[in-house]
Order: sequence, then structure tokens, then C-alpha cells
Amino acid sequence: MKEKYLYLAGFSLFLVIFIFLFSYQFLFPTSNVLGEATQNQIVRRIEPIDEKDKFVALTFDDGPTDMTVQILQVLSEKQIKATFFVIGENIDQSPEILKQVAEQGHEIGNHTNTHSFITYLSQKKIAQEILITDEKIFQATGMQTKLVRSPYGLYPINLLKTTQLLDMQLISWNVDPEDWQTKDSQKIADVVMKEITPGSIILLHDGPPDLDRQATLTALPILIDQLQQQGYSFVTVSQLINQ
Ligand code: NI
Repeated sequence: MKEKYLYLAGFSLFLVIFIFLFSYQFLFPTSNVLGEATQNQIVRRIEPIDEKDKFVALTFDDGPTDMTVQILQVLSEKQIKATFFVIGENIDQSPEILKQVAEQGHEIGNHTNTHSFITYLSQKKIAQEILITDEKIFQATGMQTKLVRSPYGLYPINLLKTTQLLDMQLISWNVDPEDWQTKDSQKIADVVMKEITPGSIILLHDGPPDLDRQATLTALPILIDQLQQQGYSFVTVSQLINQ
């Protein structure tokens, strides 16, 4: 009987440690263990050179999907440019939509081929995820990109090393209204307006294909109008970096 309890206690301890280690990557997605130098490789916001500048970048993740077409429509009506971080497997489904994104003058970034948890992937596997997607972007649009956005915003050391080797820039964000988990479009616009500062990178989603993005679509013209009223103008991520 006593042995049984010991066994149970040991197993519980193991479970607690396992859960802690597993959640660590989500609690601290950019672990401090990596140090300042590697942290600086990740772009979250660009400090304006001139304090009068009020540029911001709208970014859309997880497309291309049918929703991308509707987002393009809004962006075209408002005459602004955005940046789309696309998933290789979604390009397979809708290469013509990605072509449309490029033809309308928006920037395209790489959001890996399968959108997997990359925490424990080797550098070789991560390089494959990025390079396969690069090739698909090139096939669909004739364009090349230097921008990578990590799935789930995770930055393991292997990703930092790989993007450095490939001479690509990791792009994160500093304004996240979590549009993927709300149906409340006003809330999306409100969070953006509350958190916005000059040089911000705003995270929104136009995918994945199986999820409803109506709230994002409804929020988009609202937040564009409000930001413009406050004197903000919209640029692509590369324009924001190279201003
Ligand atoms: Ni994503």
C-alpha cells in the first residue's frame, strides 16, 4: 500500500515538472536565456527617427484564404498597403489569391510551410520550413521576401540561428488585439486604438482557411479610419524598417 502512494507521488512530481517544462515556452516565448543580442534580432516595433512621423504597419497572418480577397477589397477602398505573412500549405490551395496580394502592391512575408510548433525543430527542419515557403511565394508571385514571422510567436535559438544564416529578418508585433479569438469587432478596434504608438506593427489574421474572420473584416475599416483621424499613415513592414 505504501509503495503505491510513493509511486503515485513520484508520478505526480514527474507530471508537474513535465507540465512546467511544456508550458515554459508559452509563458516565456522569448526566453531571457538567449540574451540581449539575439533578442535584438526580432523586430517588434520601429522607433520613429523623426518624432513627427506616425507610420504603422498592418500585418495579416495565416493566409492566403478566401478571406484574404475580402481584406484586399477593404485595403483597396482605403488605398493603403499592408503585409501578409503567408503559410506555404495555404499557397498550395490558393496561389492565385497570393498573386492578387502581390499585384495590388502589398508586401509578402514568410510564415513557414506547415505552421508547426518549431520549438524543438532542428535548424535543418526550420530552414526547410522557410525555404519551401520562399519557393512557393516565388512561384506564385515572382517575388522574394526577407521577412519571416514565426508561428505562435515562438523564438527558439534554432530559429534565430537559421534566420541569421539565411539573412532573413524576424518580424514580431507590438499591437495584438487577438482577433483570432473574438467575434467582437469593436473590441478589436478598441484594443488597437488603445495600444497604438508611432512605429507599431499590428497583428491581424486572414486565416487559417477553416476559421471565421468576420470580426477582423468588420473591424478593419473602423480601425483604419480611426488611425487616419489620429494622423497615422500605413506602410509595409519593409517601408517601416527602411524609413
Ligand atoms: Ni500564424
